[in-house]
Amino acid sequence: MAASPSSFVRSVFHRAAERIADDHFGVPAADWITAFKSVGCTLIVSATCLDEARKIEAAGIDMIVAQGWEAGGHRGMFDPALPDDQLGTMALTHMLVAHTSVPVIVACGIMDGAGIRAALDLGAVAAQLGTAFIACPESSADEAYRAALNGEGARHTVMTRAISGRPARCLANQFTKWAAGDRHDVPDYPIAYDPGKALNAAAKSAGESGFGAHWAGQGAPLHRAMPASSLVAKLWHEAGRPI
Ligand SMILES: Cc1cc2nc3c(=O)[nH]c(=O)nc-3n(C[C@H](O)[C@H](O)[C@H](O)COP(=O)(O)O)c2cc1C
Repeated sequence: MAASPSSFVRSVFHRAAERIADDHFGVPAADWITAFKSVGCTLIVSATCLDEARKIEAAGIDMIVAQGWEAGGHRGMFDPALPDDQLGTMALTHMLVAHTSVPVIVACGIMDGAGIRAALDLGAVAAQLGTAFIACPESSADEAYRAALNGEGARHTVMTRAISGRPARCLANQFTKWAAGDRHDVPDYPIAYDPGKALNAAAKSAGESGFGAHWAGQGAPLHRAMPASSLVAKLWHEAGRPI
């Protein structure tokens, strides 16, 4: 969602509609960057801390996604073996805006127009929402996932590497209960995904839906179930943007 009608933001988003490459677990290799740029791609890479953002900037990437600790889905940290400062959205966004010259997109915990406005007020050029769209009829979330989004687990989201091998935030369920504290040995990403999917399939066939990878952020209880186009219009209106 664009922050202002500046020609830069307009041009990025017009181009983005056609060609965009978004990398989540680090900066792509230099020859990939060159190849993407040679075909006019806008390159976007996620950062969870200032060190990662500086590497993104040095690599000549076009935009940074500031992914705070609250965000749903996989944590875009470059190396999950390194210590994680678990920076929240406010501090992370402030830092990246203040200490890099690359346009920043905020992705974490934004569920309504007020959240979008806050992101823009922090100096971001846009907001990226994930959890807010899970309950839209267009999403591929199954019935169990949708029900869980309205349940107790939505108020207790968990960051765990048990499901895929990399840290990711999801709704609390039977799987996260088993994985509590990440005390089990888990194969590296993405190897862990396959047994997790098999476990979920077996559990579902036995009538238990608590072993799904129900990715969601801390804002989950604030979701609104409606068609995606209506949600976007609502967000736009709440953010105080003319339609
Ligand atoms: C269900 C779901 C699936 C996601 N899948 C991806 C993905 O495939 N690739 C990716 O880079 N980020 C993915 N994300 C993370 C989002 O891009 C974004 O960082 C995050 O959703 C923002 O935080 P929020 O969920 O609090 O809005 C996903 C998030 C959710 C909730």
